[in-house]
Amino acid sequence: MSGSVARLTDRQFRSIAELVEGHVGIKLPPAKRLMLEGRLQKRVRALNHSSVNEYAERLLDGDHLETELVHLIDCVTTNKTDFFREPSHFEFIRDIAVHELLGRRGRGSQDLKIWSAACSTGMEAYTTAIVLDNMLRSGSRFQFRILGTDISTSVLRLAKLGIYSKEMIAPVPDELAKRYFLRSRDKARSEVRIVPELRRTVNFMRMNLMDSKYPVDRDVDIIFCRNVLIYFDKATQRKVVDQLCSHLRPGGYLLVGHSESMIHQGSVGLKQVQPTIFKIESRS
Ligand SMILES: C[S@@+](CC[C@H](N)C(=O)[O-])C[C@H]1O[C@@H](n2cnc3c(N)ncnc32)[C@H](O)[C@@H]1O
Repeated sequence: MSGSVARLTDRQFRSIAELVEGHVGIKLPPAKRLMLEGRLQKRVRALNHSSVNEYAERLLDGDHLETELVHLIDCVTTNKTDFFREPSHFEFIRDIAVHELLGRRGRGSQDLKIWSAACSTGMEAYTTAIVLDNMLRSGSRFQFRILGTDISTSVLRLAKLGIYSKEMIAPVPDELAKRYFLRSRDKARSEVRIVPELRRTVNFMRMNLMDSKYPVDRDVDIIFCRNVLIYFDKATQRKVVDQLCSHLRPGGYLLVGHSESMIHQGSVGLKQVQPTIFKIESRS
């Protein structure tokens, strides 16, 4: 096979980039071409193709797109995440947000709803569950439910299992790690699993932030949308932020990643309370 057919042609790259941006909002500028070719190798091998070029031919032939799209999306999404990533958000939830949100309710329901939009393998959702459950153990009185959503089916599978390598839980303080993770009986396996009681507080569901409607309650207290907006263009960022805000209850919070603090510009009713923390004062 010659070098040229082992790579994507210009037309193939453009078609795949348009497909990806159209479906999930992720931009693939020409500089990402090598990265895309690298990431597609997994599918090339899985489907026994000889090159990305052959893979692209099949993908774009009109007959295979529907079944292949989900795998293509798994390849192009960047799923990096961590337990206690950007820890100031979890401190804010523990020290400020929960008390304030419950205080607003007076004698109303003490049920908090949290949504980790673009949750990847679930570490953001489980970190929140750890923080909230730990508050309950220290005497706070409320209930909570957490929803994790993502476009990628492969990360959602891992999130539902709640199994991680020991290295991945390094950022979790020892005391919390002992309480909320089960060690494998097989000492040779260096894996841990979130305890069932905590797993039960989190539900995971596939959802595309590009959809025109989100099948999610409209009285969510805190929404995490971290480290995903950066992959979208400005108009898409704005649309996604506005739509997420329409699912927050008044007084609720939107938390974004540290490189995404510009998102509030122009969004009606959003007040910035810290560089990456926004409060919805009224809904547009
Ligand atoms: C870098 S991870 C961020 C994970 C987590 N929020 C964090 O900050 O640690 C970005 C996630 O966004 C997801 N994603 C990308 N485009 C999406 C879309 N259109 N709808 C929903 N999720 C999307 C990816 O699958 C990936 O898991």
